[in-house]
Amino acid sequence: MNDMTGRVCVVTGANTGIGKATALGLARMGATVVMICRNRARGEAAQAEVQRVASAPVDLFRADLSSQAEVRQVADDIRARYAHIHVLIHNAGLQLPQRTLSVDGIEMTLAVNHRSAVSFDALFAGCTEGWCAITYCRRIVAGASVGEHRF
Ligand SMILES: NC(=O)c1ccc[n+]([C@@H]2O[C@H](COP(=O)([O-])OP(=O)(O)OC[C@H]3O[C@@H](n4cnc5c(N)ncnc54)[C@H](OP(=O)(O)O)[C@@H]3O)[C@@H](O)[C@H]2O)c1
Repeated sequence: MNDMTGRVCVVTGANTGIGKATALGLARMGATVVMICRNRARGEAAQAEVQRVASAPVDLFRADLSSQAEVRQVADDIRARYAHIHVLIHNAGLQLPQRTLSVDGIEMTLAVNHRSAVSFDALFAGCTEGWCAITYCRRIVAGASVGEHRF
């Protein structure tokens, strides 16, 4: 198993499903895991679970990633706490049965699954337009689905 000691790994949607499994795996490898969760109570329950298998601190930030303002805020908060992050894992996502708009007027699936990820990448790269040289964040991993390639 790879040793991730000293590596700061941020996982979005880390309180359940694939995100929590990823957080648990990284924690077992020694990483400093930073969880971004929409709901504080669910986030804290998952944080405690991940902390039980971790040798490094497990951190938690609360943010609703459907809101661009909350994405910007949590990115600022993470930058204030960590000098840099080694891995950013875009995992948070949802699928809704009917069309819903985010607070910013963006279709909800697009806002959470895609727009938040693009914003994080730009904010962590230190600029706000398009793809940029990655400076603050060393590596970005984006979850995807076979279904997404059909759009
Ligand atoms: N499971 C699959 O077979 C599969 C297949 C293809 C792609 N994927 C993708 O893989 C990712 C994880 O899948 P999963 O099955 O583990 O899903 P899941 O169990 O539904 O977990 C999704 C995570 O995203 C979070 N999330 C949803 N909306 C959010 C928001 N507005 N702000 C912040 N966090 C939010 C959820 O938080 P809450 O608990 O608060 O809702 C949860 O932590 C998703 O992006 C999904 O589209 C999954």
